[in-house]
Amino acid sequence: MVLGRVQLAFCVVLFQTVLYCDGQFERSNYEMSPLPFPTCRADNLECLRRSLRTFFFLMDSGKFGMKPIDPAIINSVALALPEQQMSILLRRVNVTGARWTKLTERRFNLKSGKSGVVFHSDLHVTGQISLEVAGKEGPHTAFITMDIHGAETNITYPWTIQRGIDNEDYIVIGPERIAVRNMRIPTYFLQPNVPEAYIIDETLQAKQSILDHFSNEITAALMHSIIDNFRLFSTKVPIKHYYKYYE
Ligand SMILES: *[C@@H]1O[C@H](CO)[C@@H](O)[C@H](O)[C@H]1NC(C)=O
Ligand SMILES: *[C@@H]1O[C@H](CO)[C@@H](O)[C@H](O)[C@H]1NC(C)=O
Repeated sequence: MVLGRVQLAFCVVLFQTVLYCDGQFERSNYEMSPLPFPTCRADNLECLRRSLRTFFFLMDSGKFGMKPIDPAIINSVALALPEQQMSILLRRVNVTGARWTKLTERRFNLKSGKSGVVFHSDLHVTGQISLEVAGKEGPHTAFITMDIHGAETNITYPWTIQRGIDNEDYIVIGPERIAVRNMRIPTYFLQPNVPEAYIIDETLQAKQSILDHFSNEITAALMHSIIDNFRLFSTKVPIKHYYKYYE
């Protein structure tokens, strides 16, 4: 039974914690009482979805020093296509919609004890796009608005539980691996309506992998920020405030 296995995983980890616990983690005493979290069993997806909404709300209010990610500004994303002798750059990228990221799947006991989540996001992106082709005049520049529909992100990470000096248990998350898959090709439009924009438009139409690449880079950058925020959160909030170990 799946439920039994999940509990077993937690027991094993807790057992290791007791063995290796060194309590050397420095933690400030946050006032925890009014945290609006539902405490979830790790396998209760519906509960975790509500919990994720709460986490995103706290993240966007900058709680525990977390960095708000909606809107998120990404300085630049570059793509070089050596065969076409072409390079494309997005600048001053403004991404909104990350706060409505949905949890689709939660995974345990992956290879080498890793855990994982699958997220689903719809993102709205604006920025400046410039295209440069070697040996031609340029660069061509326009303003781009892009909608990423249903980017699926598969995040896996190693984790352990550590006992803090306050005698509470905290989750420690190791380096994450992120794989992004677009369910649909992003839609976009360019402004203003001038020949420069037509040239960029033709290039994007001819090679849809360009949009796919930008969409993946932008989504992955956001997901790294979300995990970094969770790392901060989980060193400050004891597990018991958001996970239930046992029924
Ligand atoms: C990013 O976009 C949002 C929504 O369109 C807007 O409210 C915000 O001011 C923009 N931020 C910057 C720095 O341009
Ligand atoms: C997510 O990644 C893990 C590990 O790389 C893999 O086993 C799994 O099949 C992937 N899941 C999806 C939905 O892509």
